[in-house]
Amino acid sequence: MNPSNSADPIVKFADVALGYGDFTVLQGIDIEVRRGQVVAMMGGSGSGKTTLLRAATGQITAQRGTINIFGRDLANISDTELRELRQCMGVLFQQGALFTDLNVFENVAFPLREHTEVSESQIIERVLDKLDAVGLRAAAHLNISEVSGGMARRVALARAIVLEPELILYDEPFAGLDPISLGITAQLIRSLTDRLNCASVLITHDVAESFLIADQVYMVGQGTLIAQGTPKELSTSQDAYVRQFLNGEPDGPIAFHYPTSPAFTKWLEQTTGRP
Ligand SMILES: Nc1ncnc2c1ncn2[C@@H]1O[C@H](COP(=O)(O)OP(=O)(O)OP(=O)(O)O)[C@@H](O)[C@H]1O
Ligand SMILES: [Mg+2]
Repeated sequence: MNPSNSADPIVKFADVALGYGDFTVLQGIDIEVRRGQVVAMMGGSGSGKTTLLRAATGQITAQRGTINIFGRDLANISDTELRELRQCMGVLFQQGALFTDLNVFENVAFPLREHTEVSESQIIERVLDKLDAVGLRAAAHLNISEVSGGMARRVALARAIVLEPELILYDEPFAGLDPISLGITAQLIRSLTDRLNCASVLITHDVAESFLIADQVYMVGQGTLIAQGTPKELSTSQDAYVRQFLNGEPDGPIAFHYPTSPAFTKWLEQTTGRP
C-alpha cells in the first residue's frame, strides 16, 4: 500500500450514517484523524463507538455519507483492495479474541507469519520487543489459558501493533487493566503514535487517561456527534452532555437505561403473556 498524500487525513467520515438493517445508530458523523494524532472516541455504553470502528475497518458499510481510509472511499473498493488496506491497520477489538490453541508468543507472531516474509530471527526480535512494550516479555511461553484477563488484553494489544501499522484502532484498550498497566498502556499508545507517525483511534470511557494523551476528542451520544475538541476545550465546555460525561453524574441528558423499542415491548408481551 502506498497511502496517499501524507497531508490528507488517514480517516475521514463525511456526513456518515451507520446502523444495522433498518436501525440507524448514528447519523451526521464527521470525523478526521490525521497522521501523528491520537484521537479519542468517547460516549456512553451503546452510543455507537464500536459501530464507528466497524465502519472504519469496512466490516459494515455506511447507510449514507462517505468513509475514506488512506484516501480511499470504502464504498468503491474491491475485496482485494480492502484486504490491502486492512494490512496497514492494526485493530484491538473490544472482544479481542486470542487464539487459545497458540501460546502468547505465537499469538503476537501470527500477523507477522500471515502477512510478511520476515525471517524467524526477525520474528523473535519483533515479538519479544512488542511483548516487552506491554510488560509481558517473560510471559511469552504461557498458554492463553494461563494468563489473566488483563494480561490477555495486553497480548491482544501487542498483536494489534506488531506490524507497526499506519492506522491503529483500539476498542477499550484499558478494560480490565490495573492503574499501573493502564497508565503504561496509555503512554505506549502515545509514544507509538509519535514514533511510527501513525494515526491512533482510541475508544475509551477513561476520561482522565485519554485526556492526557489525546490530541482530539469526539463524543458520541443521542445518535450523533455531540462534541469535539481538544481535551482542554472539552474540559472547559459548558455543554450539559459533556459535563455529565466528564463528571460521571447520574442525572443529565445521558440516560443510563437502554431505550425501550417496539421490538422489546413485543418480546415482553410474549414473555409475560400479557398484551
Ligand atoms: N451486530 C449488531 N446488530 C444489531 N445491532 C447492533 C449490533 N451491534 C451493535 N448493535 C446496536 O448498536 C448500538 C451501538 O452499539 P455499539 O456496540 O456500537 O456501542 P458502544 O458505544 O461500542 O457501546 P459499549 O461502550 O458498551 O461498547 C446499540 O444499540 C447496539 O444494541
Ligand atoms: Mg463498544
